Amino acid sequence: MACRSLQPAVEAQLAEIRASGLYKVERQLLGPQGSTIRVAQPSGVHEVINLCANNYLGLAAHPAIVQAAREGLDRYGYGMASVRFICGTQDLHRRLERALSEFFGTGDAILYSSCFDANGGLFETLLDERDAVISDALNHASLIDGIRLCKATRFRYAHSDMSELETALKDAASARVRLIVTDGVFSMDGDLARLDLITRLADRHDAAVVVDDSHATGVFGQGGRGTPDVFGVADKINLITSTLGKALGGASGGFTTGRADVIELLRQRSRPYLFSNALPPPIVSAALQGLTLVAAGEDLRATLHGHATHLRTQLTALGFTLGPAVKAEGVPLSPIIPVMLGDAVLATRMADRLLQEGLYVIAFSYPVVPKGLARIRLQLSAAHTHAQIDQAVAAFATVGRELGVIR
Ligand SMILES: Cc1ncc(COP(=O)(O)O)c(C=O)c1O
Repeated sequence: MACRSLQPAVEAQLAEIRASGLYKVERQLLGPQGSTIRVAQPSGVHEVINLCANNYLGLAAHPAIVQAAREGLDRYGYGMASVRFICGTQDLHRRLERALSEFFGTGDAILYSSCFDANGGLFETLLDERDAVISDALNHASLIDGIRLCKATRFRYAHSDMSELETALKDAASARVRLIVTDGVFSMDGDLARLDLITRLADRHDAAVVVDDSHATGVFGQGGRGTPDVFGVADKINLITSTLGKALGGASGGFTTGRADVIELLRQRSRPYLFSNALPPPIVSAALQGLTLVAAGEDLRATLHGHATHLRTQLTALGFTLGPAVKAEGVPLSPIIPVMLGDAVLATRMADRLLQEGLYVIAFSYPVVPKGLARIRLQLSAAHTHAQIDQAVAAFATVGRELGVIR
């Protein structure tokens, strides 16, 4: 039923989104997630190379994961119809939590319906008005929202700017707790947080460090243990939040892992955990299998980082401007590669043309990225073949020249 006050407000917002060119149209995939996908387009159904999924290790439709989901379904049922503390905890949930904490070498882990919820339920549980939270300007929306829910004083430092971070730490000197929060891999830029430098500052100023490693779990570090492992500082990170929805099989679910006492407190107080249903058994069962595949996935990671090197080299040689990669000893190239275009209309036109050339890519513009920094964000998968990447390079060459982006 239409409401006289609500409807005009909704219509005005929709009109504004359309007018500013930010309206998102969802394309329908007619099959499973993969390195190629079948996409419905006005001209018919086309099989295209997929360069925009978080399917970093190619596990989203892996037979062992699908089988584990089936077994979870058969043995434990479809849904829990309960939150965890009432009657929603199966042995399966605790097995996954223990497996995650063993994987990361932490005391315990707690599952959420998503990493968005893990981040949403973290800060208000741990911090109050006596505390300070210090956050990288490019942190994920879920961290920003989670921080908004807590009463701590908020500080924001320019992306990866260690001198601004140190200033904030000094400004927060009188706080009971200083908590530095950063993405491990920044989702729109693909660069890694300098956890070596961040933990050094944290040590100096007695601050705790939380890393959202959603884009790094399974992707970076020995055994896929993420960015703390890349920088050799796992013992200096207080909490990791991450997702089951990317490298770990790509379904849904998230978690926080760290010292057992902190996890215990989250289990008692974290609102998205207390007031939302337990993860469905098929997902928990499949995530356990995903974790096993990820831990043994050195070959997949080597393939993925090899693809990133190849694609970066080729696109740079063609004359494209790419987002900067972190240049530190032993840091592999990120599978997230932003092709910087600046102009939002150009980025959208280029993505549309690339689709016609058989590449599924997405253009990102303001407010998802800062004004004037529109881009096409490419995301690689270990499931891509060399031939597919070469095909992608050829398509970029054709469309880039046609639109005057390169010569
Ligand atoms: C850095 C980061 N954190 C959290 C999330 C949210 O993860 P989930 O899909 O599990 O809610 C994402 C997903 O895009 C992300 O990129």
